[in-house]
Amino acid sequence: MDTENPHHYSQNNSLQHGVGVEVLQQYMTWEGGDAVLDAGCGTGELCSYISKQPGVASVVGFDLSPDFISYARTNNSSPNVRYHVADAADPSTIKPEWRGAFSKVVSFFVLHWVKDKATALKALNSCLKPGGEIVFVCVSDKSKFHEVPLELSSLPKWSIYLKDAAPALFPWPSSDIMITNEHRSSRLMEACGYEVIACDIKKYPHCYISRDQLRGVIRPTLPHLSYIPEDKQEEFMEDLEKLAEERHWITGEGAPTMHEVYVAIRARKI
Ligand SMILES: C[S@@+](CC[C@H](N)C(=O)[O-])C[C@H]1O[C@@H](n2cnc3c(N)ncnc32)[C@H](O)[C@@H]1O
Repeated sequence: MDTENPHHYSQNNSLQHGVGVEVLQQYMTWEGGDAVLDAGCGTGELCSYISKQPGVASVVGFDLSPDFISYARTNNSSPNVRYHVADAADPSTIKPEWRGAFSKVVSFFVLHWVKDKATALKALNSCLKPGGEIVFVCVSDKSKFHEVPLELSSLPKWSIYLKDAAPALFPWPSSDIMITNEHRSSRLMEACGYEVIACDIKKYPHCYISRDQLRGVIRPTLPHLSYIPEDKQEEFMEDLEKLAEERHWITGEGAPTMHEVYVAIRARKI
């Protein structure tokens, strides 16, 4: 995903913010003195929201993108919020003082950008105090956000440009989720040292004010475009929109709705 334009992301992250707030309200119970780590905090809007919740003492947000972190420091600062550049999938970038320091870890719309989820989940586990909890959301492999660009890229018209494109999106595999005695869990979470408290597949329809706004939201999430000649990029976007409608990822004309499917997990460090 393009993380060089933090102002644009900050102005167009109503989906992420809406889901983040909804999931926190459903799955998170803040307790007195909570120290919270937000992994992949982006431009910091949710860190700012979390820092104002009763019970939250402090928030540390980190992100891979120096531009996003710089924007977060300028626009979403608060006396009890700190921002840092770090990579969830590279434990050497996790600060030593974060180890065992947090009662809560959150992460919204980040883990589908991370190929090595096990390394990231173990690194986040190491930042939790014993019994501390993680709540996160990421895109499922049942999501059209994953399926539609993949299908378009496989058409001969576009595959000639995209045959060497490295995959950038690694949605949560639905095969990881298991159901035992009506309790849904995740093999990966258990292997990474967590007890799963809740594991849900959620559908989230989100309405945008215009086609242009929606296009502006989707465009920076498409690494494909950097492989396609500039004079063909608009055509790629038009084809994507057509296919998105056919597959019911996007519905409605003037104020279109995007239908997303994501995995929400709440788990405790064992
Ligand atoms: C869609 S944005 C979500 C930002 C924020 N969590 C929100 O809900 O608005 C995804 C973010 O994940 C960050 N990211 C991707 N891979 C990362 C990694 N390995 N470690 C830390 N951040 C990462 C990106 O830089 C980007 O800011």
